[in-house]
Amino acid sequence: MPRRVILDCDTGTDDAIAIMLAAARPELDLLAVTAVWGNHAVEHTADNSRRTLDLIGRSDIPVYAGRGAPVAPPPGAPAAEGSPEPDLLPLPTATTRIEPQDAVEWLVETARSTTERFTLVPTGSMSNVASAVAADPSFVDAVEEIVVMGGVIERGGLLPEVETNVGYDPEAAQQVLDAGFERLVLVPIDTTYRAIVATEQCATLRDDGGVAAGVAADFIEQRIERYRRLPAMRGRAAAPVHDALTVAYLVDSTLVTLRPATVRVHTGDSPTRGRTDIAFDPAGAVRVAVEPDAPRFFELLRESLARLKPGPAPS
Ligand code: RIB
Ligand code: CA
Repeated sequence: MPRRVILDCDTGTDDAIAIMLAAARPELDLLAVTAVWGNHAVEHTADNSRRTLDLIGRSDIPVYAGRGAPVAPPPGAPAAEGSPEPDLLPLPTATTRIEPQDAVEWLVETARSTTERFTLVPTGSMSNVASAVAADPSFVDAVEEIVVMGGVIERGGLLPEVETNVGYDPEAAQQVLDAGFERLVLVPIDTTYRAIVATEQCATLRDDGGVAAGVAADFIEQRIERYRRLPAMRGRAAAPVHDALTVAYLVDSTLVTLRPATVRVHTGDSPTRGRTDIAFDPAGAVRVAVEPDAPRFFELLRESLARLKPGPAPS
């Protein structure tokens, strides 16, 4: 039986590649994409999710739009900076409508009515998931595993001190950590920066694949232009595709090593707002993904994207 999956995304380029990867895999049954604010406003992340699914002929997968702001920011909290990417992905206009129901309502209703549990994968701010838990704390019971892209382990090195998905809504992130999910996996940027995709690999994607692989190659090249200027890349022409690695873990859990840890988020008006304290501890409740197998991740991505066929041309 394929694993039932809901992606909760702030869709820009790497979320879009994650959606394509999830939709391509027979091991996964992508029930829906719920859109949340983060890198872009929620109306754009929903539209981008819809465009992505329509592009690959998966108009049957619904997209719901959810929260457009953090759940409980302290007074005067600085507004989070969005992504330097354009708000709308350069893909054909969506041919399918965003569902009229609010994403948080849909998540709660789905959790209440389901007889089979699902896997939830937040790859944007955690505002939708925290809101679902606040609306109904028993929401967690319907979630077999939650796999969160977020956080940073090492401070004082070349990585940012605050990872954006956590930094956009630290209170929501802490609420998700405290909610009592039976199995919570965290994929931090320390790990995604160790599974980077390089310019020459984009050429491989294009050579081997169809429309989705070509679009993914374009998106990764755009990311490379931005990331290569960051200290962590040390000038290398390569970039992390954070959210795609997170989905790849669902397909093959041996692509990373999981280490138990306790995780705390800096919240409130602290000057360190958004940082994550990740302490490895055999008794820790969070499983932190480390040591990715970068070559196998790329091979999974390449092979999966090559399977996708284009959707009908927009009329
Ligand atoms: O820090 C990386 C994360 O922030 C990714 O999910 C990216 O898409 C952005 O949301
Ligand atoms: Ca994201």
